[in-house]
Amino acid sequence: MLSQLSIRTLRNVNEVTLFPSAGINIIIGENGSGKTSVLEAIYLLALGKSFRTRTLKSAVQFGQPQLQVIARTNGNIPVGLQFSILDGLSIRLNNAPLKRLSELASQLPLQFIPANSHHFFEQGPKYRRQLIDWGLFHVEPSFNFHWQSYKKILKQRNSAIRQHKKRDEIQLWDRHLISHGEAITQLRKKQLDKLIIEFKQIFSSICPTYKDAQYEVKYREGWLKGETLKTALAKAIHRDEQLGYTRSGSHAADWSFRINNFDPVDVFSRGQQKLFSLALCMAQAKITEQVKHEKTILLLDDLSSELDKDHQQNVLQELELLPVQAFITATDLDVRPSKKHTMFHVEQGAVQQQDR
Ligand SMILES: Nc1ncnc2c1ncn2[C@@H]1O[C@H](COP(=O)(O)OP(=O)(O)O)[C@@H](O)[C@H]1O
Ligand SMILES: [Mg+2]
Repeated sequence: MLSQLSIRTLRNVNEVTLFPSAGINIIIGENGSGKTSVLEAIYLLALGKSFRTRTLKSAVQFGQPQLQVIARTNGNIPVGLQFSILDGLSIRLNNAPLKRLSELASQLPLQFIPANSHHFFEQGPKYRRQLIDWGLFHVEPSFNFHWQSYKKILKQRNSAIRQHKKRDEIQLWDRHLISHGEAITQLRKKQLDKLIIEFKQIFSSICPTYKDAQYEVKYREGWLKGETLKTALAKAIHRDEQLGYTRSGSHAADWSFRINNFDPVDVFSRGQQKLFSLALCMAQAKITEQVKHEKTILLLDDLSSELDKDHQQNVLQELELLPVQAFITATDLDVRPSKKHTMFHVEQGAVQQQDR
């Protein structure tokens, strides 16, 4: 959670300081006023990267040498990020230089929902794995260990395959790959089971059309159903040698929900797809808080796109009940702002906080 946020020379935002509330913050402004840039600044601070660009150079205000984002987190801990065109990225947490970006991410659990949030259905398995792994990273300390170890071993195995090493040299890695892979599978399944329980409840309140729907989780381990990873690796060694990499394993896992026995992508409208993504993020925030006792920062870009007034209202009402600090942008708010919301107006990169 952030209690104070300063942004300097990031895109068209010249210099602003905001005092966001712990609950719902709504940022209103015309197209091109700088709303998404404010969300980008928060995202940058929590994750050390942008959701818009790979090279942070384009986020630095034209003609300026650097951008800065400085904030205070929950326990009044200062965190600051600077990206300079000449010297690159530097981050300070509690007045000391940061060694690893994951330290920052673990301080500030954050989820971002883009304006056209059909990611879940369009982006493929990697995105969906990352979604579930995000939750595990925050609530299950052993997950990170297993996943990092798994990735390292996989790299070694793949490199042995590419170098046309002898079979027993390739298969040397299998034992460890299997033990971490199995641990990852167990943790992901457990997390998905928890997730669907919270998801059901949240989705039925923001999307009442599906109030009485039946939900089912489908998890694909990343190898053939009914087999163990051990058998899968052993059977596929010839194929792996031909492909030049290890195809089966936890890195190839995927999952989906079925609703009333349908794949949601086949039956949902665009708006419902957006509500679906939102409910997933909200459910993750709820689980994270139960274990970590920390609010998730939820960035929601363009609430009004694809959602009518009633559904926007549903989303805002549900957010009020959840352990999130939300930053929501909109060009125009169709719903009546409540006293519970902190309002900001953006005009040409300048942000005005409205008195409550
Ligand atoms: N590096 C930059 N320097 C200055 N302005 C920029 C830079 N990059 C983008 N912009 C401009 O900043 C403005 C704000 O963009 P954005 O935050 O996406 O607006 P909104 O989300 O309110 O529609 C846009 O007019 C955009 O063209
Ligand atoms: Mg925008």
